[in-house]
Amino acid sequence: MGVRFKGWGTGVPERVVTNDELSQTLDTSDEWIRERTGIRERRIGGSAKSLGVEAAGKAIADAGVSLDSIDFLVLATTTPDRLTPATAPMIAAELGLSCPAMDVNAACSGFMYALRTAQGLLETGNRRILVIGSENLSRWVDWNDRNMAVLLADGAGACILDYDAEGSDILSFVLGTDGTAADLLTCEHGGFFEMDGKEVFRRAVRVVVDSAEEALERAGVTAQDISLVVPHQANVRIIQAAAQRLGIEMERCVVVLDRYGNTSSSSIPLALVDARDHGRIRPDEYALLTGFGAGMTWASAVVRWS
Ligand code: COA
Repeated sequence: MGVRFKGWGTGVPERVVTNDELSQTLDTSDEWIRERTGIRERRIGGSAKSLGVEAAGKAIADAGVSLDSIDFLVLATTTPDRLTPATAPMIAAELGLSCPAMDVNAACSGFMYALRTAQGLLETGNRRILVIGSENLSRWVDWNDRNMAVLLADGAGACILDYDAEGSDILSFVLGTDGTAADLLTCEHGGFFEMDGKEVFRRAVRVVVDSAEEALERAGVTAQDISLVVPHQANVRIIQAAAQRLGIEMERCVVVLDRYGNTSSSSIPLALVDARDHGRIRPDEYALLTGFGAGMTWASAVVRWS
């Protein structure tokens, strides 16, 4: 019994905000942002709903499936448009879906948690799930705070996940949480994102490496078997440090944060679609998806591309 990825889509705002543009109002520079984070520009605009609808519409078209065949919608978002109702039912309505729909919040690990949730739903009788990561982080950024303003951005990614009795594209899954680190990255009601960047950095590398190694072991493969690493896009130095510890060259890692910044729940599907569109993954090759985020949360999975 397993699950199959059927189609993918993304949605990003048209508005590009460059580092130079941020430098006009903040005490920062293109050089600092590029060197310390790897980010060159990001997309700003839209809402969790509008970006999610765009990504989902493309994923449904890419999969070539009908709306009435979708049994469930799982939306990963840290930035729902309203506290209640959840954003997922609004996306469903906009798409013309009336299936169950709910939000999952696991911060930047959100898409991975949503995938894991969808996998469980497929094991309990559902046959086709729409999984979306959609974020409107810019709404919760204090644009006078250079710490966060240079990092966070908006965007969405989505996929269709199908039940398959014969085999599975997802070979292993490792998820974890450490709530004692909750205060490292927060956004209070009515407030803005705040972060202890150095400590998040330190812990991020550790949880990515540990969870990735466990996911590889559970899948029965080694780091050398992995053709593509699709990491959460927070800071290229985190990706480099984790890749080095895993013994994986950067050529095998997808980096799109230079163009999109940190889009939280959306970053892994945005990176995966970019890699697919550039022919970087072929059928039967293994990919390692790995993310971390506020909570702290983390998740790694080994996938066989079909
Ligand atoms: N622009 C210009 N200078 C900045 C700056 C900015 N946006 N932010 C900090 N600085 C300055 C600091 O004041 C400091 O100056 P000093 O040396 O004169 O004291 C210097 O740059 C270095 O600051 P530091 O905080 O040590 O930078 P860093 O190398 O740790 O990078 C982060 C900061 C936030 C980019 C990095 O810690 C990080 O990416 N952390 C992880 C964040 C993350 O992944 N968050 C998402 C989790 S899902």
